[in-house]
Amino acid sequence: MKKRILAVLLVCAMALACFTGCSKGGSGGTKVGVAMPTKDLQRWNQDGDNMKKELEKAGYTVDLQYASNDIATQVSQIENMINSGCKVLVIASIEGDSLGTVLAQAKEKGVKVIAYDRLIMNSDAVTYYATFDNYMVGTKQGQYIEEQLGLKDGKGPFNIELITGDPGDNNANFFFGGAMDVLNKYIDNGQLVIKSGQKDFATVATQGWSTENAQNRFDAIISAYYADGTQLDAVLASNDSTAMGVTNSLEANYSGNHSNWPIITGQDCDIANVKNMIAGKQAMSIFKDTRTLASKTVEMVDAIMQGKEAPVNDKETYDNGTGIIPSYLCEPVFADVNNYKKLLIESGYYKESDLQ
Ligand code: BGC
Repeated sequence: MKKRILAVLLVCAMALACFTGCSKGGSGGTKVGVAMPTKDLQRWNQDGDNMKKELEKAGYTVDLQYASNDIATQVSQIENMINSGCKVLVIASIEGDSLGTVLAQAKEKGVKVIAYDRLIMNSDAVTYYATFDNYMVGTKQGQYIEEQLGLKDGKGPFNIELITGDPGDNNANFFFGGAMDVLNKYIDNGQLVIKSGQKDFATVATQGWSTENAQNRFDAIISAYYADGTQLDAVLASNDSTAMGVTNSLEANYSGNHSNWPIITGQDCDIANVKNMIAGKQAMSIFKDTRTLASKTVEMVDAIMQGKEAPVNDKETYDNGTGIIPSYLCEPVFADVNNYKKLLIESGYYKESDLQ
């Protein structure tokens, strides 16, 4: 008799455990692979941590991998995720065009793919794209320069130099394109002058978004065009890692013999760059709250697992070569020395002590 009561209790306990597990988004321990490009940049560490936390909170099991910006490593990590039973893959690609073959395997096995932050190109295995409005990122950077220099009021001429990101990252085209759609008219009418003449995307791109590459290019620009005391008034930099290269170069080659410090744009609000912002060495950065992106992506995972349509807000912008990928675009905002406390500290993104 006692044994029978125990057995009944055991069954009840198991049913209860299952019920609680299932109520966590109905995910019941389903495995999700999260492939991030690199640990080198602060933002991807935050993205990975947020994704893992949010997915686990919803009851999923998470396989989170970083690929040291090496394409072959990312491909083999994704292969392992497919073979080890992941049902959904969330991928921030290193190079948008390099995942076609491995994702064909995913598709064959019914594994769904969400492109995270960066669009995966030329693969029909991609179900959704979760990102920030990348064109708007560029527009806001361009508008910041436009406002700070008073370009709408006809001021100038000012000297400007340009730097953007990795040519294999589809986002870089959007950032650069958005900014140049604001700035081109001032270049055309002479209010903005690019002393180096380096203007087209391929010339101002930065392999791997690397700070070192950015710094090397600016070392050459500063010594060739600004060493004689010519003022550099603004630098359009597409993100914080390239902005950091520009700042490092200016500190080594420019400060001391020039009276102004250029307006430098950025993106990500990395801690080192926010510190530079507070110190007056970088004018602004774009704040992309990775917590919002992670929770939107988890909504997509949930919808896929429940066989429903995920909430998207853009069905026209992002064609990856196989057709439009339904996207959710989060809104980026600009941060500078006047609003960073509200945006970054009061929102709990950073602690005040992180920025000291
Ligand atoms: C991201 C940026 C980031 C850059 C370098 C882009 O795809 O959208 O936030 O700064 O990659 O990692």
